[in-house]
Amino acid sequence: MNLDFTEEHLMIRDAARDFAQNTLLAGVIHRDETQSFPKEEIKQLASLGLMGMMVDPKYGGSGMDTISYVLAMEEISKVDASTSVVMSVNNSLVCWGIETFGTEEQKKKYLVPLAKGEIIGAFCLSEPEAGSDATSQKTTAIDRGDYYLLNGTKNWITNGSTASVYLVIAQTNIDKKHKGINAFIVEKDMDGFVIGPKENKLGIRGSDTHSLMFTDVKVPKENRIGEDGFGFSFAMKTLSGGRIGIAAQALGIASGAYELALKYSKERKAFGKEIYNHQAISFKLADMATEIDAARLLCLKAAWLKDNHQNYDRASAMAKVYASEVAMRVTTEAVQVHGGYGFVKEYHVERLMRDAKITQIYEGTSEIQRIVISRSILKD
Ligand code: CAA
Repeated sequence: MNLDFTEEHLMIRDAARDFAQNTLLAGVIHRDETQSFPKEEIKQLASLGLMGMMVDPKYGGSGMDTISYVLAMEEISKVDASTSVVMSVNNSLVCWGIETFGTEEQKKKYLVPLAKGEIIGAFCLSEPEAGSDATSQKTTAIDRGDYYLLNGTKNWITNGSTASVYLVIAQTNIDKKHKGINAFIVEKDMDGFVIGPKENKLGIRGSDTHSLMFTDVKVPKENRIGEDGFGFSFAMKTLSGGRIGIAAQALGIASGAYELALKYSKERKAFGKEIYNHQAISFKLADMATEIDAARLLCLKAAWLKDNHQNYDRASAMAKVYASEVAMRVTTEAVQVHGGYGFVKEYHVERLMRDAKITQIYEGTSEIQRIVISRSILKD
């Protein structure tokens, strides 16, 4: 693995950092408090080419690699994880899924506007009774000749109301279990598709999370992704790459909190000196820096494997489980370093701590990542 970044990598990282610090930061507390979706900010992300970063330019994307994606995700997430989850779902679940497995027609119709950021996508796998246990889908898609009849409910869907295009996983033939599952491209204005109320969440409050209800939605046959029965495999492969994005998000949340804690520790005085000069604080910062570096290396390794067409299932699960646990530890310690100030909103670290929690839950909980890793180890 080559650890040297190219000029292009550094340019993308700096552009994302500049956007995060100069555009996202100003309104982030307000968006968190009022649960406001970063609509204008997503438009600007799109104009920077960050909504379809890895998509081939012939489909409207920026043609960048996964390393660039990790670098950009870290910078955006340092400031606003609500914005970075929108970016992550659109890039690695929706765009990647359609570009890798979609037909030419699907790419022209859906991928091009998604990659340009003209519209946003959502990935719909979780259900009220099927989150971790993804094979137990209750949503059904019954084959009716030239269309599928879609019925069921999806839960916790990121970009639930702001998306225009939804990748929906559903059971087509229950007897075949996971081999009877399919993935479909569903449009927002299809009859029978209803968006439920917005969830009031602990963290990533600027992103919109909804349940979705499908009642006799007619999904044209040409909107199925891949061969009949490919849906579960599609979801697993797509999530494997998605986990690199969420790992990078967790990394960014951790490094954002660490940078704030470091800065504060050099300014704040107690017992006659800057608190950084007290070992109780400097050792915390040393641990944070060490764990963040380790998380970053895992993220970059998973990205490098993906860019070099090697299997990255284990690496992405390792990056996600480790980075998300680091995010939780580092943000909690960052609040501690700030003392009472850490508990109030103006200092940002309490929000980062709340945002960190979701990285241990979505795109597979920490327990799911350990299942993926331990099964992979057994095969060695
Ligand atoms: N690539 C391709 N195929 C895969 C695969 C992968 N990475 N992982 C598993 N499969 C295949 C297996 O090979 C198997 O196929 P065969 O029977 O043909 O061999 C099939 O899938 C079933 O695999 P398992 O027996 O391992 O299935 P399982 O029921 O034990 O579940 C699991 C495995 C890892 C627990 C899986 O269910 C899982 O990842 N669950 C978590 C789902 C998840 O991440 N949900 C998050 C929702 S999305 C989200 O959060 C998005 C958002 O809004 C931010």
